[in-house]
Amino acid sequence: HNHITHATAEKIAAAVATGDTHAHLPPYEALPHYRHAGGYQVLERLRAGGNPEEVQETLLHSGLRGLGGAGFPSGRKWSFVRAAQGPRYLAVNGDEGEPGTFKDRYYLERTPHLFLEGMLIAAWAVEADRCYIYMRDEYPAILEILRREIAALEAAHLIRPGYVELRRGAGAYICGEESAMIESIEGKRGIPRNRPPYVAQVGIFNQPTLVHNVETLHWVARICREGPEVLRDVERNGRVGMRSYSVSGRVARPGVYLLPAGSTITDVIEAAGGMAEGHVFKAYQPGGPSSGLLPASLNDVPLDFDTLQAHGTFIGSAAVVVLSDQDSARDAALNMLRFFESESCGQCSPCRVGCEKAVKLMQAPKWDRALLDDLCTVMADASICGLGQAAPNPIRLTMQHFPDEV
Ligand code: NAI
Ligand code: SF4
Repeated sequence: HNHITHATAEKIAAAVATGDTHAHLPPYEALPHYRHAGGYQVLERLRAGGNPEEVQETLLHSGLRGLGGAGFPSGRKWSFVRAAQGPRYLAVNGDEGEPGTFKDRYYLERTPHLFLEGMLIAAWAVEADRCYIYMRDEYPAILEILRREIAALEAAHLIRPGYVELRRGAGAYICGEESAMIESIEGKRGIPRNRPPYVAQVGIFNQPTLVHNVETLHWVARICREGPEVLRDVERNGRVGMRSYSVSGRVARPGVYLLPAGSTITDVIEAAGGMAEGHVFKAYQPGGPSSGLLPASLNDVPLDFDTLQAHGTFIGSAAVVVLSDQDSARDAALNMLRFFESESCGQCSPCRVGCEKAVKLMQAPKWDRALLDDLCTVMADASICGLGQAAPNPIRLTMQHFPDEV
């Protein structure tokens, strides 16, 4: 509930100018307190003689997967980057643009140093020359927290001046796509690159680049300090690990809930205090608009990586939005496509033209299902990046599960 508006952002800027900055920032764990509680001991120990391969094994053993949404095994990326000729860079994706996702914000506003230590451990492991943090500009309090705490790390000689560079995003969803983010860091317009080559080989300024999401690095620090058991020992419905669900919509208590990765939508709604009063559960978006809408009847699926594939979607960033009997699945799907239409970078026709055509077709009183099906196939098969490839999900799932509405 530390909602930061533009007005607050201006106040923060004014407060920074006058030196009176404390009042407007959420209470968070600053460097002295974090160190007092044992923070940065792992980093110092590793720097003094740790073995990156051992740390990587620990991460793989913990089961940690990329928490930006793709679920790529985190440890594996390190060996790709280390295998490539330096100089190497590390880039943190803090753009958190998937609508309904606010878990990175939650952690950064409370324990920024867990993330920063995780980042420095990863940077140590791949011998990164420099770290770039690409941070969502809509999070002004976090930008200020990071500015202060990076300066504190420099003052404490834990990093050399300039080693960590804080970059502000400018509100474009596509700049959360890792290669578009890299273009943006290089000072160019943020448009996705074709792959291969992967950014692990050809990233910032064509150098090998390790890209991690904020929350992934938060867990790197926790796993290195508390052991792989911190994730490994949590099991539910045959799934191992934990997931930070950002829960919003028609629930009693929206917020971030850290639950076992095998949780179902029933567990998630229960954690969020149940349905809001007067609302009956109808549908849910498991991982942002990219994941489309599922019906309430699919309430026994563990909301983890891979498990939703059989239902034509994925958990992604675990941005769970709950819809009720008072919402229209059709309107929600149209809203999602309008978002993709607006955020498409326009570089490739299947996405640029496809999103626009989809919005037009979805505005008709009765959807032309055959034509929409064809359009979805072209978009999913031929778009350059995840935006255009995932945009058909809300269309397909709404046709499949809510045929009466379309
Ligand atoms: P991806 O599967 O293409 O890549 C995931 C990561 O693994 C990337 O860093 C990629 O470079 C790396 N990778 C994959 N294969 C590799 C290989 N063979 N060699 C080296 N590296 C390899 O997925 P993508 O497009 O990066 O992410 C899609 C996800 O992002 C979706 O789940 C979506 O929901 C989520 N997303 C999250 C947002 C947020 O705000 N957190 C915003 C928008 C989308
Ligand atoms: Fe740009 Fe869309 Fe093509 Fe991605 S799929 S490169 S967002 S036009």
